[in-house]
Amino acid sequence: MVKPRKMERGAGIQGDLDVRHYDRMMRRMRDKGWLEIREILKTGIDRGLALEVGPGPGYLGLEWLKKTTGTSLKAVEISPAMIEIARRNAGEYGFSDRVQYVKGDAGKIPFEDNRFDGAFTNGSLHEWAEPKNVLHEIYRVLKPGGKYLVSDLRRDMHPFVKWFMQAVTKPKEIRPGLRSSIAASYLVEEIEAILRNALSGGFRVEKKTMGLLITGTKAG
Ligand SMILES: C[S@@+](CC[C@H](N)C(=O)[O-])C[C@H]1O[C@@H](n2cnc3c(N)ncnc32)[C@H](O)[C@@H]1O
Repeated sequence: MVKPRKMERGAGIQGDLDVRHYDRMMRRMRDKGWLEIREILKTGIDRGLALEVGPGPGYLGLEWLKKTTGTSLKAVEISPAMIEIARRNAGEYGFSDRVQYVKGDAGKIPFEDNRFDGAFTNGSLHEWAEPKNVLHEIYRVLKPGGKYLVSDLRRDMHPFVKWFMQAVTKPKEIRPGLRSSIAASYLVEEIEAILRNALSGGFRVEKKTMGLLITGTKAG
């Protein structure tokens, strides 16, 4: 029996120390090639202007920019401390002119309708107060035919996988945050029910070893 969802306290990782630990963890994941860029490209998000929701320190979007040509990225992030780190990381990549980080709540994305060719977000879904609103917003700002990808943890992952994730997560200070994120994450069935109510177009939810993956296209 899977335990009910337990929301994390506060919206996002806000404290300076948490943010620095999180940056170190994601940098290490980037260096090991563990970020899900291939999934994003496979979905067809590979051109034009993309939106990233909750970029944190920014590595996923920055790697996406690196793997694509003639692209640019706008990202909406609730935590000012994360934005500061993401901007610094963008400078390190030499991509400051291709990416813009905007402070805002994904429940009210500060961009106009039909603006983006694609949208992606990783590890943020379980922190959204109202995922239905965010999914609506992602849909609203996509151009017709635009693709989206939402990936996150799922709390019914196999206990061995959970144990393994904890073991490889470094620095170790981030492990309690990983446990609370897993406890706050959705089951595939839960997210399917939310999507059915939120979106008119088709979508797909896949169960992955460590999480879940939602993909879809805005109706043309
Ligand atoms: C666990 S981190 C994931 C960061 C990054 N996407 C990654 O893959 O490493 C979740 C991020 O989502 C941000 N976030 C949470 N709720 C948000 C919201 N409502 N609007 C915008 N960003 C949000 C947090 O501040 C945090 O940076």
